[in-house]
Amino acid sequence: MTVDIQNRLVKFKDLIPSEVPFVEGKLKGHQDRSNYSIVGPGVSEDTKQSVKIAEEHGFNIGAVRAAPMNGSGLHSHTTAEVFLIFSGSWRFYWGTEGKEGEVICNAGDVASFPTNMFRGFQNVSDQDAHLFVVLGENDPGVITWTPSLLKKAKDSGMVLLDDNSLIDLDKNSIPEGKSAIKPIQDNELDKFDNYTSEEIEKFVIRAKDHDKYLQDDGHFNSNTILNYIDNFKIHEKDLSPLIEHNTGFGLTLLKGENSHIHPYTLAESEIFLCLEGEWEITCNDQKVIIGSKDTFSSPKNSTRSIKNISGKDGSVFIVRQKN
Ligand SMILES: [Fe+2]
Repeated sequence: MTVDIQNRLVKFKDLIPSEVPFVEGKLKGHQDRSNYSIVGPGVSEDTKQSVKIAEEHGFNIGAVRAAPMNGSGLHSHTTAEVFLIFSGSWRFYWGTEGKEGEVICNAGDVASFPTNMFRGFQNVSDQDAHLFVVLGENDPGVITWTPSLLKKAKDSGMVLLDDNSLIDLDKNSIPEGKSAIKPIQDNELDKFDNYTSEEIEKFVIRAKDHDKYLQDDGHFNSNTILNYIDNFKIHEKDLSPLIEHNTGFGLTLLKGENSHIHPYTLAESEIFLCLEGEWEITCNDQKVIIGSKDTFSSPKNSTRSIKNISGKDGSVFIVRQKN
């Protein structure tokens, strides 16, 4: 059977975002944002969220656009959450009141946040900005919000139900047989982990430090590779990761004007996500081209190769299911 690989190409401009993806969606600082589900549904609470590629990959990929001083409120995940900054500057803050620490990340930076901690983020640049998020596992579970965020959301008319769906009380009432989710109790807040800014900084790999981390794969000096998470095996190479988080997926950046990887076959799911430039991917003898913010999903067991065709520097993220 021939798979039409064009169906696995996701042009960012064709995506349909949710404008009220979460319970906080009407609150100041959270209302001017768009949520995109590219691979898997992610953790969106909007039952109408459009999901571009539903096939299970072992991880989920989504994106966020936010206006200046907008972003996500304090929440915790049960699986890994890795942020890929595409544009602008983003402030990440954490702790049950959001005051334990912060890091500011800029375009090209990658930040991996541990599970079981409350984190939020906001666009602190002066124009709209984008970041991408990789969440662990096929089902990344549901978000836990801080009790104070759920209370503020309720005052704005938004209620999260026990089936993880949203109700806008201005438009609907809570359906028969369903009820609002119970906020966690104050004594349960102690079960969440605490981190200093220095501790989280270790899980941030900054674009300005790329030269420190780049590994050459030895292929005519044309490929530079930054391997963030999990070992990256390519041809006879096996590169170790910069961040020691067990996320269930691998994350790698391929960079350089003449960068390319010759054909290889992989049994696992693999995603190419373009940060910069233009990349041609050949997969089972069919070709696709991805530009900035576009995604391509290689089918399992397919033979694929990739090359930078932009004639200038470029970079592409590779997200791989861990075997
Ligand atoms: Fe999150």
